[in-house]
Amino acid sequence: MRMPLSAARSGNDHATFAHVGFLPGMSMDLYLDMCQSLHPELYRRLDLHRLPLDVIREVYDALDSVSIPFEGKEKGGRGDAYRSTQLAHPLMRATGISRLIQLAVGPETGLSPDLCILDALGGNGTLTRAARLLWPCESCPTILTGDVAAAMVSDALAQGLPAIRQAVQYRLLGDETVDAVIFAYGTHHIDPGDRPLVVAEAYQMLRPGGRLVLQDFEEGTPTARWYSEAVHRYTHTGHRHQHLSRSVAHQLLSGAGFERVEVQLVYDPCIYYAGNPDAARIGLLDYLVSLFALDKLVPPDGELDGRFWDGVEDLVRQYSTFRADDMPHECPVVTEFCVTRSGDRFRAELPRVALVAVGERL
Ligand SMILES: C[S@@+](CC[C@H](N)C(=O)[O-])C[C@H]1O[C@@H](n2cnc3c(N)ncnc32)[C@H](O)[C@@H]1O
Repeated sequence: MRMPLSAARSGNDHATFAHVGFLPGMSMDLYLDMCQSLHPELYRRLDLHRLPLDVIREVYDALDSVSIPFEGKEKGGRGDAYRSTQLAHPLMRATGISRLIQLAVGPETGLSPDLCILDALGGNGTLTRAARLLWPCESCPTILTGDVAAAMVSDALAQGLPAIRQAVQYRLLGDETVDAVIFAYGTHHIDPGDRPLVVAEAYQMLRPGGRLVLQDFEEGTPTARWYSEAVHRYTHTGHRHQHLSRSVAHQLLSGAGFERVEVQLVYDPCIYYAGNPDAARIGLLDYLVSLFALDKLVPPDGELDGRFWDGVEDLVRQYSTFRADDMPHECPVVTEFCVTRSGDRFRAELPRVALVAVGERL
């Protein structure tokens, strides 16, 4: 029998959610018990009664079918490769990630653990891991990882990170609970029809003065074409999604009520260091093949020889060569894939340019 919502409202009655399958092998009541004791900074921001219980149950029953590409291989996804590659290289995308976090915090606020950021398409906690390596704990903001994919959230929780399985559209985080929301490295996965709703939900989650950072790769640019052409062609899952344009990004934020909306380009390279030039070059190319699970590039005999890596480099160059005028100017950039000396090491760098819209809830 379904418990009336008012009963659950009277206290933290996690048992109300015992019949909601939250994660594989973990019902929602068990998740809430765990979250309350291990991640109070996340737990206290939940509003378990925003949505009727039957809606919550239906949503979690349906979630498995929408997050397939980011689940494990057994479900037809490519999430295993994504997770293990991210874990092995937490700072590969540090330049872009640190910029996104600074934009989320804003120019007038100092970094502090008192600032709470929701990484709304957070995967297995990539932004949190990078932030914790980039800033000391006295200044590192608190980052909550939200994601729709069970395998991503289970992995983040297994690392001890505060993480929640939620689709932004049906969030469990309450209104006015966070200082910033970041949508990054996955905005194109949200159905265009759902994007206004998702941005509106972010607005509701923000405290007054809070900031939204919406990142994607601009439609038609080399970085967006990397996904829609190369990743689409060489993965088993395919990857045809509509990326954002500047005007659509601006309209999404202003349409949801955000103010001081600005759209800018952010340099977001992948950078890999090694002791010699070839190790740096192959290390970076290998990262791309593994992260994006470009399995169809790999020859049937699995032999990854010099010719294979030359072919991968040719492919990568097609999607990472920019005109100097198309680059952002906020930091030193390169305009094509290259390996350069950096002190006593070698640095392989793959330029990427992201489109980032920032707005404030005043
Ligand atoms: C490309 S991954 C990026 C993960 C992480 N930001 C990173 O950079 O490693 C995109 C993630 O967005 C998640 N996602 C897609 N739509 C979502 C939604 N509506 N709500 C929450 N998560 C969503 C997917 O499950 C996936 O893990």
